[in-house]
Order: sequence, then structure tokens, then C-alpha cells
Amino acid sequence: MGLKILITGGLGYIGAHVCAVLHQKGYRIVLMDNLSNSFLQMYHQLITLLGEQSLEFEKKDISRPDEVKELFRKHSDIKGVIHLAALKSVNQSIAQPLSYYHNNVGGLITLLSEVKSKNIPFLFSSSCTVYGQADQLPIKENTSLKPSFSPYGFTKQVGEQIIKDTAKANDSFKAMSLRYFNPIGAHPSSLIGEWPIGEPQNLVPYITQVGIGKRKELKIFGDTYDTTDGTCIRDYIHVMDLAEAHVLGLETLFSSNSNHYVYNVGLGKGVSVKEMVSRFEKVSERPIKYKISKARKGDVPIAYADASRIRHQLNWQPKYSINDALLSAWNWEKYLHSNNDHKE
Ligand code: NAD
Ligand code: WQD
Repeated sequence: MGLKILITGGLGYIGAHVCAVLHQKGYRIVLMDNLSNSFLQMYHQLITLLGEQSLEFEKKDISRPDEVKELFRKHSDIKGVIHLAALKSVNQSIAQPLSYYHNNVGGLITLLSEVKSKNIPFLFSSSCTVYGQADQLPIKENTSLKPSFSPYGFTKQVGEQIIKDTAKANDSFKAMSLRYFNPIGAHPSSLIGEWPIGEPQNLVPYITQVGIGKRKELKIFGDTYDTTDGTCIRDYIHVMDLAEAHVLGLETLFSSNSNHYVYNVGLGKGVSVKEMVSRFEKVSERPIKYKISKARKGDVPIAYADASRIRHQLNWQPKYSINDALLSAWNWEKYLHSNNDHKE
């Protein structure tokens, strides 16, 4: 029997894909989620994809010490933690900073208090947002971090620091922060994918909803940036490749002597918003209506990764192109639509 791994935030977008990849590699899985930004239906989707016996689900909140303790009492055989549970809306974090600090920082501390003495590896979802507008491109892990524009971004910087300090103080606590660039796309089965509650805040789910006719048009946030076509440039990465990086990260923590790592996870290719729209039109054969609207506050003009550290040290080899990712996102959108499941 495989080792049992806890995935916090496991019913969310990235968590569901990490779950699918871990299962495929033979791990046993406990998903913990408070459903604050996901649907219980995602659990049923995972069961359809992976089978009835493939995972256990605990509806619990990482910021509640009693619930976290209870979870570890019940699953005393957990051998690793992948911590994805967090609130992730930049705008909402500006309006409600205390909920973000409570959930993302308080929740992390609650979880670490339980995990740090158990001698089990800990993987943390960080974000390229920690770099802000980097002074140097492509962005390397040692590129200096900038003061964050939003409380959300700050929770990732503080989270990384808390983990680093905890690892420094406890040799047996092994941890890794993965700085995701822009995850997009869906599982090849189209049974799981990004499932936003309400109006999507990120580019690709917005485009797919325009494609299916759920939204009238895409608003492109600014076209006067100092880039090739004036729109922002990002490093989009298939969520399945990102999920794979988690498994490699976990396996490194199981076998290594060092106890603290930080990796960028991106394809290393900068693509503009307009280019994403035309790539999507090509793979989906659907026209995407858009209008240029004003720049979004806090958006950095250009961000793309130097991912050579994870490629070399973990032998991470992304398998999917940006067009593959866009096509899979489109297939997932069609699946949701045909199953009448597109909840608001
Ligand atoms: P998501 O919102 O789809 O998933 C997060 C899940 O965590 C949700 O299911 C939510 O219900 C759950 N959750 C939130 N607070 C919780 C709590 N207190 N207790 C238990 N569960 C809780 O987000 P995602 O896109 O899958 O992101 C996962 C992680 O990756 C987050 O930490 C996010 O900050 C980070 N990240 C995401 C992106 C991105 O573009 N999606 C980029 C960089 C980093
Ligand atoms: C991509 C590009 C937008 C929507 C955000 C968070 C970041 C990280 C990843 C978690 C940008 C443009 C978008 C739309 C648009 N998350 N856009 N119209 O901004 O790179 O990063 O998600 O850590 O913290 O800030 O991703 O998908 O929102 O935007 O023109 O309706 O698309 O301006 O240039 P972003 P995104």
C-alpha cells in the first residue's frame, strides 16, 4: 500500500489535479477542504475519475486547531503534507485583509504546529506574485522579492518565511515552497478542471466562458504596457505539469538530507494576453469577442520564470504546450456546459 498524503485545499483547482497525479503514482490520499472556494461535486468528479476507494475526504478548516488535531488523530499514518488551502483573490484580499491573514497565515501556523514535530515532509503553494515586477527577466529563485501589492501576495511571502524559519529551527522538518507561475488547463479526461465560483478572476477561465457563451466578452486589462503588443506577458503552465512537480518535490523531500527548498514552476515562456486569445481561438475554433478596458491595479507588465533549478535538480520535464493546456481548458468548459453543472 502506498504512503498516505494529506492534500489541504484538495477540492480546489490545483488540489484536484495533484490528487489525480498522486493517485496514479500509487499514493493514498486524504483531501481536506472547507469548501469555501470549491464544490463538493469536485469530490464526486474525483471518485468518478479515480475510483471509490481512491481517497478520503475530510470537510475541515486548516485555521481551526481542533479540526486539524482531530484530522491528524484520525489519520495518524499521514506521511506527507501538500498544503494548498488558501484564499486566492487579490482584490478580495484588499477588501478583506483580516480574513486573508487569518486564513492563509493563521491556517499555515495552525497546520505547521501540528506537522513540524511529526517528521513528515511539507510542500507549500507559493506564487510568482512574491516577485512583483522583477528587476531581472527571466525570474530566478534568487531574484529579489518585492513588497507585495496585495495582502494575498504578502501572505505568500510571509508563509515562505515562516516555513524557512521553521525548517531552520527543526532539522527533521523538511519543507519546499513551489512558486507557481500561471497554472491553466485541465485533466485530459475533462472530468476535473478549474471551476470558479461566480465571475472568473483569471484569464483562461474567463476566455473559456466567453467561448461557451456564458460571458459576453473578455475585458483585456490594458494594452499600453511596454510589451510586444501592449498587453501583459505571463508564463502559463499546464496544471498537470504543475501537479507532477508536486510529486517530484515530495519524493525529493522523502529522500534528501537538506531540509529546505524553493523552486519556480513555470514553462519559462512569456506570452501576451492577446496571444492567449488568438491561441485559444485557434485551438477551439471559436471567435472570442474582447474589448480593451483599463489596466487592472497591481498587474505587473511582464513575468516569466527561469525554471532551470527545478528542471535540473528534480528532473522536472513539462510535457504539455500552452496550446495543449488551452485545448484541455476548453474541453473541460464544454464538459461542464454539457452536464449543466455550471453553478454560480
Ligand atoms: P482554489 O481556490 O481552487 O483551491 C483552494 C482550496 O482551498 C479551495 O477548495 C478552498 O475551499 C480551500 N480552502 C481555502 N481555505 C481553506 C481553509 N481554511 N481550510 C480548508 N480549506 C480551505 O485555488 P487554487 O487555484 O487551486 O490554488 C491552490 C493554491 O495555490 C493556493 O494556495 C493558491 O494561493 C496557490 N496559487 C494558485 C495560483 C493560481 O493561479 N491558481 C497561482 C499561484 C499560487
Ligand atoms: C493574466 C493576465 C491580466 C483576466 C494572478 C494573481 C497571482 C497568481 C496568479 C495566485 C494579466 C489579464 C485577466 C481578465 C485580462 N495567483 N486578464 N482580463 O494576474 O498573472 O496572476 O493569478 O498566486 O497572484 O495575481 O493572472 O489570470 O488574473 O491574469 O486581461 O479578465 O490576463 O491583466 O495580464 P495574474 P490572471
